[in-house]
Amino acid sequence: MRGRGKAAVLLGCVALMGGLVGACGDDSDSGGGGGSTSSDSGGESANAKVIDPASMDGAKGEITYCQGKDTAGNAKALIEGFNQKFQSQGITAKLVEFPADAGQQRAQFVQRQEAKSGECDVFSSDVIWTAEFASQGWIYDMTPYVESKKSDFIPAVLETATYNDKIWAVPNTSDAAFIYYHTDKVKEIPATWQDVYSEAGQKGGIVYQGAAYEGLTCDFLEIAFAAGGSVISDDGKKSTFNSPENVKALQFMMDGIKNGDAPKAVVTYMEEESRRAFEANRAVFMRNWPYAYAAGKKNKDAAKFEVAPFPAFEGGGKAGILGGHNDVISVYSKNPGAALALVDYSLSPEHQIELAADFSLPPATSAPYDDPSVQKALPFAPELKQAIEQAKARPVSPVYPQISEAIYTNVNAALAGSMSAEDAIKKADDQINQALATF
Ligand code: GLC
Repeated sequence: MRGRGKAAVLLGCVALMGGLVGACGDDSDSGGGGGSTSSDSGGESANAKVIDPASMDGAKGEITYCQGKDTAGNAKALIEGFNQKFQSQGITAKLVEFPADAGQQRAQFVQRQEAKSGECDVFSSDVIWTAEFASQGWIYDMTPYVESKKSDFIPAVLETATYNDKIWAVPNTSDAAFIYYHTDKVKEIPATWQDVYSEAGQKGGIVYQGAAYEGLTCDFLEIAFAAGGSVISDDGKKSTFNSPENVKALQFMMDGIKNGDAPKAVVTYMEEESRRAFEANRAVFMRNWPYAYAAGKKNKDAAKFEVAPFPAFEGGGKAGILGGHNDVISVYSKNPGAALALVDYSLSPEHQIELAADFSLPPATSAPYDDPSVQKALPFAPELKQAIEQAKARPVSPVYPQISEAIYTNVNAALAGSMSAEDAIKKADDQINQALATF
């Protein structure tokens, strides 16, 4: 996957000029949902297939929805709800589950797109992949479909679907993490990360996602951004990672493990490992996404807990990272019209409310946050919406996966004790610059 950038983009276009059917603007394919192609500049994304909103009307056939492991159960609910409603029209959808690790989900989708396989008509794409997938020419330009619905979305969420002034994806769920705490031991969340850690040290520890994968990039950047750090320059050309603020944030996390505020095992934890440790009372605090709220409340053996927005970094401020998943339609789908019908259903008030009320997944649209059933199931709905509105995006770049890998590999090595904070930040900085140079 490495180093695919300008060279690969050019190759794709050369193949097309040679008369091959490729991802570089071919619009002749099947399915009747293709619509036109866009024509302005900007790599593969300039010649992308453009979705025709009318193609979903009367669409028929079978489609596949690909998503990471359905831990919360929302994908099964989506497929079930859709099939009930659309079977009589002649469309059925099925679910293919990819692994829980975001990087592995991406790898599964990339593999299929490189093989021009239409297996995933719709893919639940992490918000960080829009730029890459669009610039590779793998996904439909969804602008004409989203245009009329723009005001339904939380603006920051819609931003994650936008690249080069076009909208490539349809936001489904958003995400912003919270601090979870056991109410028998903690009455109120301390005001700073420093105090959260020291209270954790006294009362039973804090768990988070410290394994070498995308989750650690999020966990680290939440603290680094709060400390005043950054990743790349505003023009996206240079790394700004090697800063005293980032070193300070990493040193803080390393000290947390060294002092026993966080167990050593966090360097192997993803979301579910953290959740299990927290619910089993092996930690008194946890950093996790909102899905863990409904999951924890459904587990009757879980120790009692509540959630709170993030504290501030001492001497810095507060920061959260914007997560979430957007539906993208593959340019290799044989049935983009039916695929669009599924995406459209995922935005229906019934499904958007179900996401929040049944699975504590943050809707991408604004209205459900005011719905009484959501407010009942999610008492922190107003704080959640605010956290999403204020969260910072991860760097937007077609080489984002390499940037993130540079961060999580080196941060993980430092947390595991095999590198100093300075060396880890410096090495990640070099690798980020190398990744940026390939594009
Ligand atoms: C959540 C977020 C996603 C993030 C991932 C990291 O699924 O929604 O944006 O990349 O966690 O593990």
